[in-house]
Amino acid sequence: MKKNKLHNSVAKLCALAVTTSIALCACDNEPSALSQSSAHIQPAADRSSAQRVPDYWPRLQTIIKPDGEIEKRVQDLLATMTLEQKVAQMIQPEIGSITPADMRQYGFGSYLNGGGSFPNRNKHATADDWISLAEQMYQASIDDSLDGSTIPTMWGTDAVHGHNNVIGATLFPHNIGLGAANNPELIEKIAQATAKEVMVTGIDWIFAPTVAVARDDRWGRTYESYSEDPAIVKAYSVAIVKGLQGQGEGFLGDDKVIATVKHFLGDGGTEKGDDQGDNLASEADLFHIHAQGYVGGLSAGAQTVMASFNSWHGKKNHGNPYLLTAILKERMGFDGLVVGDWNGHGQVKGCQNDSCPQSINAGLDIFMAPTETWKPLYHNTIAQVQAGQIPMARIDDAVSRILRVKLRAGLFEKPGPAKRPLSGKTSLIGAAEHRAIARQAVRESLVLLKNKNGILPLSQQQKILVAGDGADNIGQQSGGWSITWQGTGNQNADFPGATSILQGIQDKLAADGSDLSDLEYHPDGQYQQKPDVAIVVFGEAPYAEGNGDIDNLEFQRNNKKDLNLLKRLKANGIPVVSVFLSGRPMWVNPELNQSDAFVAAWLPGTEGAGIADLLFRRADGQIDFDFSGKLSYSWPDSPLQTRLNHGDEHYAPLLPFGFGLTYQDENRLGDDLTETFNAAANQLTEANLFNAPWRPAFKSGDGVKVISSRFFDDSSITYTTFDKATQEDARRVTFKNQGGNHFEIQEAFSLDLRGYLAANASLSFAIKTEGADELPLYLSMRCESDCNPAINLSELLKDAAPNSWQNIEIDLSCFSHRGAQMDKIIAPFVLTTDARMTVEFTQLKLTAARSPGSMSCASETVINHKS
Ligand code: BGC
Ligand code: BGC
Repeated sequence: MKKNKLHNSVAKLCALAVTTSIALCACDNEPSALSQSSAHIQPAADRSSAQRVPDYWPRLQTIIKPDGEIEKRVQDLLATMTLEQKVAQMIQPEIGSITPADMRQYGFGSYLNGGGSFPNRNKHATADDWISLAEQMYQASIDDSLDGSTIPTMWGTDAVHGHNNVIGATLFPHNIGLGAANNPELIEKIAQATAKEVMVTGIDWIFAPTVAVARDDRWGRTYESYSEDPAIVKAYSVAIVKGLQGQGEGFLGDDKVIATVKHFLGDGGTEKGDDQGDNLASEADLFHIHAQGYVGGLSAGAQTVMASFNSWHGKKNHGNPYLLTAILKERMGFDGLVVGDWNGHGQVKGCQNDSCPQSINAGLDIFMAPTETWKPLYHNTIAQVQAGQIPMARIDDAVSRILRVKLRAGLFEKPGPAKRPLSGKTSLIGAAEHRAIARQAVRESLVLLKNKNGILPLSQQQKILVAGDGADNIGQQSGGWSITWQGTGNQNADFPGATSILQGIQDKLAADGSDLSDLEYHPDGQYQQKPDVAIVVFGEAPYAEGNGDIDNLEFQRNNKKDLNLLKRLKANGIPVVSVFLSGRPMWVNPELNQSDAFVAAWLPGTEGAGIADLLFRRADGQIDFDFSGKLSYSWPDSPLQTRLNHGDEHYAPLLPFGFGLTYQDENRLGDDLTETFNAAANQLTEANLFNAPWRPAFKSGDGVKVISSRFFDDSSITYTTFDKATQEDARRVTFKNQGGNHFEIQEAFSLDLRGYLAANASLSFAIKTEGADELPLYLSMRCESDCNPAINLSELLKDAAPNSWQNIEIDLSCFSHRGAQMDKIIAPFVLTTDARMTVEFTQLKLTAARSPGSMSCASETVINHKS
C-alpha cells in the first residue's frame, strides 16, 4: 500500500479517535507501581521434594501390593534396555502424528487418541478400524527389527462418559449428573460397561475418572466433576476404578482397562474457575478438598495418574517435584505411573513442547506429546540424560513404573489387541444392557428443582407440546467429549442407537398406548392445537475444557431466547415443564419464574428416554419411578455466586447442596424469585496480562506461534523480556517485516470478558515506540470469530515526546463497539503494523479501577479497520 493513501485513511481514523478521546497522558515519570494485591506467603509449592510433608497426607493402603516376581521382571527388562528404548517408553504421541512405521522405529511405550481423533481421521471409523490400528501399533511395538525392543505398547483414550470417541457407543451422563445420583454401585456398573466397550476396540487404557472437585462453577470442566463435595468424589473414585480395572482375580482381566485418576492436583480449585489456571488453596485444603479422589482411587488400585495443567501458587504442576514426587509417590506411596496432559510439560517455566527435563525431574513418567514435537522431545530428552541434566536413576524409575503397570495389566502375556476375548464383539458397543444402565443413570441424575401444584408427574391423557432446541438434539444432551472433542458439529445420525429426549417421550407414550396425535413437537414453541402442557428442553450448547469457561453464571446473557419462549407459553396460559440441559448450575431465576416445574437434567448422554421415565405417570395413573437425584452442586441465587460451596461462610444459595424434590415433596420455589442482580458487584480482580495463562505469540506465514521463552528471535520478530522498574516487568518487540507484523498476548482458549465490559473496565499499559516510520501501529483484539477492532495507537501517541513512555488506558467498550466478540476473546492485546519498529510495553492489564480522564467509546461510530 502506498504511504500517502494510507495517510488518508489514517487521517479519517484520527478524526474518529479524537471524538473518542481515549485517555492518554504523556508522563515523564515512571508508571505507578503495579498493584501489590497478590502478596501471599510463599507456599509449599516451592519446597523441594526433600522437605517435610504434613502429616495429613496419608500413606495409602492400596489393594495392589508390590509383587516380587513382577519387580524382578521389571529389573531384568530394565537391565537389557538402551537409553533410547527407555526414553521411547516415556514418550506418548497421538495417532494423528505417528504411523505404525514410527512405532516400529521408535517403540513408544504408549500412544493416545485425543478427543475427536479417530483412526484414519475418519469420524465414522468402525470398531474394526479401531482394532486394526491397535493391532498394527501393537505388532509394530513388539517388532524389534529396528528398535531392538519387544515391549508391547499401550493405547490410551478419553472414555470419560462411555467410549465417547466411538460411533454407536453408550454415552452415560457426564459426571455432574452422576454426582446427583449419589449411587456408587451404579457408578461401578457404568465403569464395567465402559471398560467392555473400550476393550471391544482393542484399547488398553483410559484417561478417566476425572476426580476434580469443582469449586467455582465458571470452570468449563465443571461437568467433568462429580461434585463440589469431596466425599462424593472420593466414594465415586473408588467405585469407578473398581469397575474399570476390576479387583482380585479379575484385576485387569480381559474385560478391564487401566484407569487414570486425573488431573493431579487441584484442577477444580483454580482462581475464577480458570481452566489450567492457578490454585491458591492452602496445602490443607489441597488435601482435604482436592486430593480426596486420589485417596479413593489410588487405594482402589488405579495404576495411573495424569498430571494437571494447573498451577499451585503459581507453579505448574507438571514441574512440581513436591506434588508429583514428595506427596504422590513418596508419601502416598503411589507406585504406578504419572502421565502428563496434552503438552502440559511445555507450560512449565523454562520448558517448551519439545524440551522439558524439569518435568521428568519433578516426577513425570510419560510426556503426553500429541503434536509433531514428539520427535525433538525424544531426541532432546536423550541428550539431556547424556548431559546429566536428567539423572539416569530418574529415567530408570520412570521406566520401571511404566513396565510395572504393563506387567500388572498382563500386556506381556495377552495376545495382540485383535485376538483378545472382547475384541471385535461389536454387539457390546451400545449394547442394550449398557444402555439400560445409562438410562437408569439418567433417571437417578435428574434433580427436580420446582414442582408447582404437583404438576409432575404428568398424565399422558392430555395435549402435549414438546419445544426447545434441546428436545431433539442428541449432541446437545450429550455435551462435550461426545464423538468430537467439543461435542459440536454432530447430527443425531452420528449417534446410532441413541434416543433423544423427544424420542423418549414419544416412545413412552406409544408404549403405554397413548394417542400420539395429541403430541406436537415444535422447537420454537409454535403449535396447531393449544396444548394442556408444554415440555421445553433447553440449555447450554456443548463445550469442553477452557472453551467452557465463563465469567458469571447467568444463563443466556444478553440473549434470553429460551426465556422468551417460556414467557410466550405462559402468557397463553400453558403450564410449562422446563428440562434444563447444562454442564453446571446456572442462574436461571427468570426461567424458573416462568416454569411450573423445572428439572435440572445436566448432560444426560445418549439415553434420553430416562427423562420421559420421570415426567409421566403410566397410562393407568400409577407411577413407575420418582425423582431421587439430589444436587451435588449448590444452585446459585445470583450469577455472581460462582464459588458457592456448602460449608462455606455466608452460604446463601437459591437451593442448597443435597436439594431435590420427589413427587411427594412440597414445592419450595415460587414465581417471584429475584430477577435482577448487581453486575457491578462482580468483584473483578485486575488481570495482569504478563502472567499465565496469558502468553506472547506472533503471527507468521503459517499461523500464530506461541513464544515460550524469555528471548525469541527469528526472521520476522525479536521478543524479549527486560527490567524496567522491577525484574522482567517489561517486554520489547521488534517487528522486522515491511508489512504484516502481528504480535499478541493470548490465551490457549478464548476468554469471556463480558464481566469486565459490564464493569466498565479498561485495557491499560505503558508503551514506548522507537524507530517507527510513518506507517501506523494498531492495537486490537482477536476473537474466536473474525474480528479486528483496531485502534490506531500511533495516532494516540503522535503528540508524545519521542522515546518517552506513555500511559494508555482504553475503555473495553472501544473494542466491543468496533465489533469485538467480548465473550470469546482469544487475544486481548494485539499489536499490528506494516512498519519495521520496536515497541516496548509494561504494566499490561485489564483493570476495573480506572483513573479519571479515561473516556468511554459509547457514542462512537463503529469502525472496523483492517490493517
Ligand atoms: C485433557 C485431558 C485429556 C487429554 C487427552 C487434555 O486436554 O485435559 O483430560 O485426557 O487432553 O485428550
Ligand atoms: C484434543 C483433545 C485435547 C485438546 C487439548 C484437542 O485437539 O482433541 O483431546 O484435550 O486438544 O487442547
